[in-house]
Amino acid sequence: MPQIFHPRVNGLTRILLAGGALAIVAFACVAWFLNRSPYSTGQGAVPEQPVPFSHQHHVGGLGIDCRYCHTGVDRSRFAGLPDTHTCMSCHSQLWTEAQMLAPVRESLKEDRPLRWMRVHRLPDFVYFDHRAHVTRGIGCESCHGRVDRMPLMSQAAPMTMQWCLDCHRNPQKALRAPDRITAMGAPAASDPNALLRRYRIHTDRMTECVTCHR
Ligand code: HEC
Ligand code: HEC
Ligand code: HEC
Ligand code: HEC
Ligand code: HEC
Repeated sequence: MPQIFHPRVNGLTRILLAGGALAIVAFACVAWFLNRSPYSTGQGAVPEQPVPFSHQHHVGGLGIDCRYCHTGVDRSRFAGLPDTHTCMSCHSQLWTEAQMLAPVRESLKEDRPLRWMRVHRLPDFVYFDHRAHVTRGIGCESCHGRVDRMPLMSQAAPMTMQWCLDCHRNPQKALRAPDRITAMGAPAASDPNALLRRYRIHTDRMTECVTCHR
């Protein structure tokens, strides 16, 4: 084949082309990292549950506090899920014939826990702690959205590192008084800086890698 370009030009073009290709790949990676699609973060997905439990009915309608069912949330890293007895404290008297609740009755009879499917799941290399947040003025709504409007539970926030950091850099606007932590649709606090001092929050440490990767 006759050579069209001088060999040196050819080399240069190759470097430029390779550089261009690398730049495109790098750009795509950055875009993916900064703004990942709901598909890759799990946002919005609704896993099928053994019983179609409705937060809308139990929280929005009946007004049951989150901590009645998620008893660990202000005491440990994990919020925890309710056991069958918690459901049966009401459903041994209410809706006792409902087909929808058959798996709950079976679970009690056979002494076998219901197997709820996880909606949220951080990778194992991330450290998270519920107590640290709900005892420092961060409400469930900031991370889980309007749970009182969810007929079925889904992940409201992207739960990416970028999302965690957005709040860790500037937590003021999310802070609530201690009696509003489980409330839904509560108005923003009137003096966020007073709350920052009251909870003794140290924003300087909140963006360090070891806070979440330890
Ligand atoms: C009557 C009991 C009950 C109450 C009250 C309740 N929940 Fe739940 N919650 C459940 C059950 C059962 C599940 C598991 C099934 C599901 O995911 O829908 C669950 C699941 C969840 C999940 C998803 C867990 C996962 O797998 O990642 C979140 C988040 C959650 N609840 C938040 C809340 C918040 C916030 C409140 C208060 C505003 C609340 N819940 C009140 C029973 C309850
Ligand atoms: C404090 C009482 C109480 C507790 C605890 C409770 N429920 Fe209910 N549940 C009710 C009432 C009342 C209704 C009827 C709601 C309605 O029709 O608006 C209901 C309705 C339901 C229904 C029918 C569909 C619906 O949402 O209307 C299902 C399914 C259900 N509950 C599952 C559960 C499960 C699973 C648990 C345990 C995780 C649980 N409930 C805990 C009071 C309770
Ligand atoms: C700062 C954000 C944040 C706040 C505030 C928060 N959660 Fe969560 N929640 C998460 C994350 C992240 C996960 C997933 C944790 C994992 O995969 O290890 C989660 C998981 C859960 C689960 C699944 C079971 C478990 O023990 O992990 C439940 C239930 C839950 N949250 C309920 C609540 C309730 C109720 C509140 C308020 C009282 C609350 N959360 C406040 C971020 C938050
Ligand atoms: C506020 C909590 C938080 C802090 C601080 C934090 N990370 Fe992360 N990091 C996360 C979460 C959550 C994930 C998993 C979700 C995701 O991939 O976005 C993650 C994922 C990662 C990943 C895997 C990325 C991927 O795409 O799989 C790396 C690498 C990482 N972090 C490095 C760092 C470094 C380096 C620092 C310090 C400069 C840091 N992180 C600080 C929360 C944090
Ligand atoms: C809406 C605001 C908000 C979001 C979103 C948020 N955090 Fe936090 N986080 C806080 C505040 C406020 C504190 C308390 C800081 C303090 O005590 O000085 C905190 C503290 C922590 C701590 C320190 C716990 C300890 O005991 O040292 C960890 C770990 C943490 N967050 C991880 C995460 C991870 C991982 C995510 C994302 C999945 C996340 N946070 C999302 C506001 C938030």
